[in-house]
This record gives sequence, structure tokens and C-alpha cells, in this order.
Amino acid sequence: MTKNIAVLVGSLRNGSFTKQIANNFVKLLPEGFEPTFVEIGNLPLYNQDFDDEGNVPAEYTEFRATMEKMDAVMFFTPEYNRSVPAVLKNALDVGSRPYGASVWDKMPAVIVSASTGAISGFGANHHLRQSLVFLNMPVVQQPEAYLGGVTDMLNDNGQVTNEGTLGFFQSIVDAFVDLVNRY
Ligand SMILES: Cc1cc2nc3c(=O)[nH]c(=O)nc-3n(C[C@H](O)[C@H](O)[C@H](O)COP(=O)(O)O)c2cc1C
Repeated sequence: MTKNIAVLVGSLRNGSFTKQIANNFVKLLPEGFEPTFVEIGNLPLYNQDFDDEGNVPAEYTEFRATMEKMDAVMFFTPEYNRSVPAVLKNALDVGSRPYGASVWDKMPAVIVSASTGAISGFGANHHLRQSLVFLNMPVVQQPEAYLGGVTDMLNDNGQVTNEGTLGFFQSIVDAFVDLVNRY
């Protein structure tokens, strides 16, 4: 049976390196794992009044319905000021409510952080991980996916060609596939 895999990218930038990295990762998924890049840049900032007053933005409804159909999620995040970009945190918050109807509960996930710098988005990776613990999501633990110096990994077409790097990416995808197949 096909596994529907949501791909959430924490950068809205057209030329986003993180998005390019995500594109390289999804190519490594095996047959039967169907990736969908889910839009999160259109979600209004979470406001609990929308849910409490039954005035839910159409974008929330669509996002929640899309995520309900997913079997697992791959997060690709840059690091903003040593943390998760607001757009990604907002998507987590929107999907987590209304209370008791979280789309994230028990959904397997993997986190890949990417940075142009050397620290590899470690802060973003672990701040995101902290939220996923609370959201009751099983997350790939090893291998840890901190990607530093991403501009050196990507060619002008946004492709990763280095065999060693691709092998590392594949090991992360394999661990994710294992996790998804266990749920
Ligand atoms: C608001 C902002 C904050 C940033 N903070 C960090 C940071 O804490 N650590 C880091 O490694 N890079 C930081 N950067 C640099 C990003 O790694 C770099 O802009 C990267 O290209 C963003 O990912 P993208 O190419 O997918 O948009 C920051 C960039 C922005 C715009």
C-alpha cells in the first residue's frame, strides 16, 4: 500500500537551499513512498480564537485535511537565529489544534536541518525535535541529519552529486522508511 509522505520545508525563499536539499532527498525514497510538498507559507499566524469561535481560515482547514491523509512527514528546516523558522513552527501549531484533534499524533517523522554555515542547523533541529516530543511523534534518532555548508553540496542545478553525500542521505531515508514501516 502506498505511503503518503508529507514534505514540509521551513523556507519560503524561491532559491531555498533547504528546498533543494529536500528535492534531493525525496528522490531517494523507495517505490510506494509518495512525497507531497505541502504548502505552509499561506497559513495565517495561529490564533486560537479562529478555532474557539468557529471562524477557521480555509487555509487551516485545507492544511489539516491534507495532513490527515499523510502517513508520515519529512521536515527540512533551515535555522533562523538558532531556532526553527516561524513558518514551520506555525504549521506545527495550526496542525496541533483544535485540542484533541492534532494531525501530528503518532505520525512518524524525520528532521533534516540545513545551513550554509558550519553549525548545520543543530539549534533548529533540536528545537523542532522538542515540539515533536510533545506532539507524540516518533522521530528518526539515528543517523542525525545536520547538514552544514549546503552550498558546497549543491551544483548549479540544485543537485547533489557527491556519492558519499548521497550515501549519507540514503542512510537517513532508509532509517525513516524503517520507522514508517513499523507504524
Ligand atoms: C532570519 C535569519 C536568521 C538566520 N539565522 C541563522 C542561524 O541561526 N544559524 C545558521 O546557521 N544560519 C542562519 N541564517 C542563515 C541561513 O542558514 C541561510 O540564510 C540559509 O540559506 C537559509 O536557508 P534557505 O536557503 O533554505 O532559505 C539565518 C538567516 C536568516 C534569514
